[in-house]
Parts: sequence; structure tokens; C-alpha cells
Amino acid sequence: MSEDRTNGGTGDAYSVADQITSYQQSALIGTAVEVGLPAVLYGSPKTLDELTGALGTDPRGTMGLLSGLVTFGLVERDGDRFSLTADGELLADDHPDSIAMIARKEWFFYKLWANMPEAVRTGHTQTRAWRDRLENDPEQAHDFLRALDDLCRLYGGDLPGLADLESGGRLLDVGGGAGSHSANLLAAVDGLEATVLDLPGAEPVLRERHPELSFVEGDIDQPRFGRPEGEEWDYVLVSNILHDHPAGENERIVREAAGLLAPGGSLVIYEWVIDEGRTSPAGVASFTPMMVIENEGGYTWTEAEIGGWIRSAGLEPRPISQGPGPIAVIRAERA
Ligand SMILES: C[S@@+](CC[C@H](N)C(=O)[O-])C[C@H]1O[C@@H](n2cnc3c(N)ncnc32)[C@H](O)[C@@H]1O
Repeated sequence: MSEDRTNGGTGDAYSVADQITSYQQSALIGTAVEVGLPAVLYGSPKTLDELTGALGTDPRGTMGLLSGLVTFGLVERDGDRFSLTADGELLADDHPDSIAMIARKEWFFYKLWANMPEAVRTGHTQTRAWRDRLENDPEQAHDFLRALDDLCRLYGGDLPGLADLESGGRLLDVGGGAGSHSANLLAAVDGLEATVLDLPGAEPVLRERHPELSFVEGDIDQPRFGRPEGEEWDYVLVSNILHDHPAGENERIVREAAGLLAPGGSLVIYEWVIDEGRTSPAGVASFTPMMVIENEGGYTWTEAEIGGWIRSAGLEPRPISQGPGPIAVIRAERA
């Protein structure tokens, strides 16, 4: 979905056939991580016998997997031994720049996306609500939050530049998860103190990934997100939250966020903002079906829609701040 084909293509059947079969590459990567192949091969080339012994897998099935992984440049063969290429090593958990968590997250969604026709027909999510996943399948939910942190490490470094916070102060990161974006802001802005507000089940991942941040238990579904009357913040960050919710909910979330600001305080929305026609930018358009299938009422929203929620909260939005990446910042100050 990352390739921009908005030029309409050329009527080339081979190119469309490549798109039809491109699922095989994702499936092989998901399978390799699922059976533990990169972890076992990392720094330790093996014969097929040694590999199946370590993984407890079938020789013909494993050779099939290896054949595909060699084709896609993730494994190489030297005599009777197989090793990871430099790209394949990134799928090993022990690699310092590992993206294995991202592969696990996408494997979860790979299976979910088989239900995309149902999501399109009904408009309903095809997975359980996040709160349910966090409470009843914490291992998978924690891996999801770890993957978001790894995605932020890869792609999310633009928030400090886009938000351009003028000075330090107290920042509340609503639904901050692993704390990835607060951590980037903390590193960039002198005198900033950042607190992540999230459901209690998210706290272990925050402590593991960003122990430099404070955590408070809260609930986006509650008035003031569960924070006490009179508490005020210089910045309230709402990062990657609005795409998880329907429009009516977002109006309430933005209003509650604005209500937590001190006079002169600033609301910072970091979000995948789609153009009016809902087909560009390509990175945001291709993200939109994921929100439809993942979250009840999930969608990507336009600058006008987000601006409308900000105005109905009594603030005036600044013009959108968009960098080369798909995620933009919309800020608004409390008078
Ligand atoms: C898409 S993630 C975004 C995480 C982070 N803000 C980021 O930009 O990477 C959504 C976050 O909202 C949190 N969340 C979901 N429902 C919540 C609720 N009712 N109250 C508080 N946090 C919630 C999740 O635990 C998760 O950390």
C-alpha cells in the first residue's frame, strides 16, 4: 500500500498481477517471524537440518519458506548453509535496529485484512475493541504498542519540528501509549515535563520503552479523561487518536482536551490528515482502510473537520503544519 499509483497506471496486466500476488511477500515475512526463523539464524548460519531442529518445523515446509525468503532478499544460501542478509537481520529481535515487532503487528493485521470485504460492506471494524484487547490479550496488545514505538523511531521524528513548541512547560500526552512522541518532544524542548495518560494496561510498555516519562492512568471516554477539576496543562498532545474514533466522539475528545489547557496553553494534534477528496496524500489515503477495519468508526479526517472540532471547543486552529511525512500537526491556543 505504500506505492503511489495515483497516476492511474498504464493498463499493464503484469503490473496488476504483481499487485495481486504481493500478499505472498508479507505472508512469508510474517511466517518467518512467527516461527522464529530470524531469531534462530541471526549471527548463526545453519543447514536445513539444524534449522528445522532448532525451530521444530517440517523440512519441506521450511525449505519452501527459505526458497521464498531467498527470492525476496532476506535469506541467502552458501553451500548447504542459510544465513540472514542485512535486510533479513532486521527481523531478528536481537538486532539493535530490529523491526520484528512491526512484522508481528502487521501479521496480526494481515489475517484481519482477509475480512476487509465485510468491513467495506458493513462499515464495522473486524476486530475487538482496544480496551478488550488490552485487558484480555495483553501480550499481543503490548507488542502492538512496542511496534508503534518502533514505527515512531523509524518515521515519527518530525513532531518536534512540526509542533515547534515555543517553551518548556507541562505536557499531557493523551493516549500516549509507549510515550514515543512525548519522548521526542522532551529531547527537543528545554524545560518540558511530559506525562503520558493512558489506560492502566499500557503502563508496562511505557515503563519499558520510555522510563524518563511520567504516567497517569486515565480514560479518553471519561470527562476530562478522568483528570481532576482545576488541573491545567501548558500543552495537551493528541497524537494518533482521532483516527481511532468517529466524528462525534472526536468533537468531544477535542473539547475535553481543550478544557485541560491553562490560559495561553496549546492543543497539539498530530494526525494523518486527508485532503478534501479523501484520495491524497497517498500515504494517508492508503492508511484509511486500516482505520476502517481496525476501529469502530475509525477514519482519516480532513483539516476542515479537525478545525471544526477545535472551533466547537472554543479555540481557533492555526494553519496545518505538514512535513514530508504523512502525519501533520494542527495547533490551537487557549486565549
Ligand atoms: C493509535 S495508539 C496512539 C499512541 C500514541 N499516541 C502514538 O501516537 O503513537 C492509541 C492509544 O490510545 C490509547 N487508548 C485507547 N483507548 C483509550 C482510552 N479509553 N483511554 C486512554 N487511552 C486510550 C491506547 O492504549 C493507545 O496507547
